Amino acid sequence: MVNICLIGTGRAGMIHGRNMVKKIKYAELSALCDPMEENLQNAQAELAVKYTYQDYQEALANDEIDAVIIVTPTAYHKEIAIAAAKAKKHILCEKPLAMDEQECKEIISEAQKNNVKLQVGFMRRFDVSFQEAKKVIDSGEIGDVVLVKSLTHGPSKPKEWMYDISLSSGPIGEVNSHDLDTLRWFANDEVASIYAIGGNFRSPEMGGQYPDYYDTVSMNLKFKNGILGAIDGAQYVQYGYDARAEILGTNGSILIGDQGKNNLFVANKNHQITHSTMNSWTYLFREAYVKEDQAFVDCIMEDTMPLVTGYDGLMAVKLVHTGLTSLLNNKIEYL
Ligand SMILES: NC(=O)c1ccc[n+]([C@@H]2O[C@H](COP(=O)([O-])OP(=O)(O)OC[C@H]3O[C@@H](n4cnc5c(N)ncnc54)[C@H](O)[C@@H]3O)[C@@H](O)[C@H]2O)c1
Repeated sequence: MVNICLIGTGRAGMIHGRNMVKKIKYAELSALCDPMEENLQNAQAELAVKYTYQDYQEALANDEIDAVIIVTPTAYHKEIAIAAAKAKKHILCEKPLAMDEQECKEIISEAQKNNVKLQVGFMRRFDVSFQEAKKVIDSGEIGDVVLVKSLTHGPSKPKEWMYDISLSSGPIGEVNSHDLDTLRWFANDEVASIYAIGGNFRSPEMGGQYPDYYDTVSMNLKFKNGILGAIDGAQYVQYGYDARAEILGTNGSILIGDQGKNNLFVANKNHQITHSTMNSWTYLFREAYVKEDQAFVDCIMEDTMPLVTGYDGLMAVKLVHTGLTSLLNNKIEYL
């Protein structure tokens, strides 16, 4: 068994916590850690683990623990991941891996030095449709990949700190880091250039205080091997959570995702058909999180490389910063 400590018991943390307790083979959720007493108590009431901690250093000192899942606000990822690697604990860290490239490099280096696994939380890579698309691309069925398009739109009103793009990076950081990872994965290459344009369409009243804030972005990318990429991102779209992708090849194409929550269509006496929209990423990707957590435990048990590496985490952080620089300077950025 792999004994796991969940560090951070908030929104995303509880997804991993519930999976580890109920759904993951060869895993034991042994400990919870959160400085916020209320969150820790609520998590313990539901998950009933052996140990609880408010200080992650104390959790890391527990020899029974083999691995940690870091799901704290991103600003704390670096210090916790480095301390975990030094304590020889394997690491699953939620995305973004850290605040900037330098921090990512430090985490990667410490994990390598201490010979621990480092997996980053890009759960779309574990989604059945995304995995099937990757297999179809690799089989050659659609010919050579020419263009990869991906979009993510989030429904919720931004929290106050998100309007400050020096803290949030706006939608490029909040939602598009997943799309940037998807494009690298499907193009099987690294990005050569990015051009991003955006605007604030839904919260004009915030423009005075936060003139750089944008809620919608469109990015054009070019890969080193010539493949083209297109991403769009948006926050506060209100209609639902929307994540779709399209891969155009020289002799075929692949479409992933639609906006519906399920296959239910309701026809009414007004001659209208209604279909519920997807409400949340937690619903859309719930099975992908299970597979992501199982893959983390498996790579520890089998001593194999994680399917999403620290390097993938680093590249996503780098591309978010490059995209934002392009948007702010209104010019193509080359990598
Ligand atoms: N994969 C995804 O699509 C996805 C989705 C949501 C969030 N995330 C990422 O997960 C992370 C957490 O986001 P969230 O929405 O769950 O946040 P949240 O605010 O709901 O939860 C964070 C929790 O961490 C706790 N915490 C703060 N400092 C801590 C510390 N030093 N040690 C232990 N716990 C600490 C907080 O008390 C809180 O309970 C962020 O990095 C976020 O970007 C990823």
